[in-house]
Amino acid sequence: MSQPSAPTRAYRLAVFGAPIKQSKSPLIHTMFGQQAGLEIHYDAREAPAGTLAEALGVLAAEGGVGANITAPLKQEAMRLATSVSSRVRRAGAANTLSLTENGWRADTTDGAGLVADLERLGLSPGGVSIHILGAGGATAGILAALLEAGARRVDIYNRTAATAVALAEAHADLGEVKGQGFDALPGRAADLVLNATSLGHHGQAPPLHREMFANGAACYDLNYGTAAAPVLAWCAEQGIPAFDGLGMLVGQAAVSFETWTGFRPDPAPVLQALGDAEF
Ligand code: ATR
Repeated sequence: MSQPSAPTRAYRLAVFGAPIKQSKSPLIHTMFGQQAGLEIHYDAREAPAGTLAEALGVLAAEGGVGANITAPLKQEAMRLATSVSSRVRRAGAANTLSLTENGWRADTTDGAGLVADLERLGLSPGGVSIHILGAGGATAGILAALLEAGARRVDIYNRTAATAVALAEAHADLGEVKGQGFDALPGRAADLVLNATSLGHHGQAPPLHREMFANGAACYDLNYGTAAAPVLAWCAEQGIPAFDGLGMLVGQAAVSFETWTGFRPDPAPVLQALGDAEF
């Protein structure tokens, strides 16, 4: 006699931002759902600045239980949440919302996604010195995770020195972290150099110097696709191992998915599928 099969649990989820058409999140979360044996309805919804509360209301009315948030809404997401994680408070931005009885809870999974991807690549931040180029939202989202993963020292360099200094001060209790302007480069050699500027979207690399890299050091660009190409090309010329941020994208999605469903997906096959389809 056949047993009635258990009903598949279904989750309604969405990513909000503007522009949003290019988002890979629906594809990534659908693949995670297949791994988990869960029915995932995840779509990308265009939401310009100032419209997130209304858009989330629509999602909740449809039975939605979670959302990812991307530019330009990450700060707005933090402001309208009824509870926020300590990482969100520190970063001033959120990328993951979960519906609770008391409203939306905000978290940020970018830092955990980056650390997981660095570990996958054999570049664990534990005990190493790190240069971060850029001090915008991307850096704010990863700094606490890098320090909490045990980075020995983090130096942030930015075109606008004051932003780097402020970000370092806001994280000083977590470890050794210093902010400065690009004029302080190359600074002392680091084990890992991260590009967290948005220059790649304009076909440009941030200032890079051979002296920034210790022997055996690697480079990781938080961008992926064509936006990572300028940094990867410079590193290839120099013989420096370099990686783009596609693994961080999948890694942050995996942490969000676990937040909503309790299932921790394996990023590896999803990363492989995206990499095969890439650009
Ligand atoms: P994100 O949220 O992706 O970090 P952002 O907050 O706009 O985007 O930050 C972009 C980063 O790239 C910042 O560090 C920015 O430097 P400033 O703080 O000086 O603006 C950096 N960036 C953007 N355009 C740049 C340029 N033309 N030259 C140097 N740095 C640039």
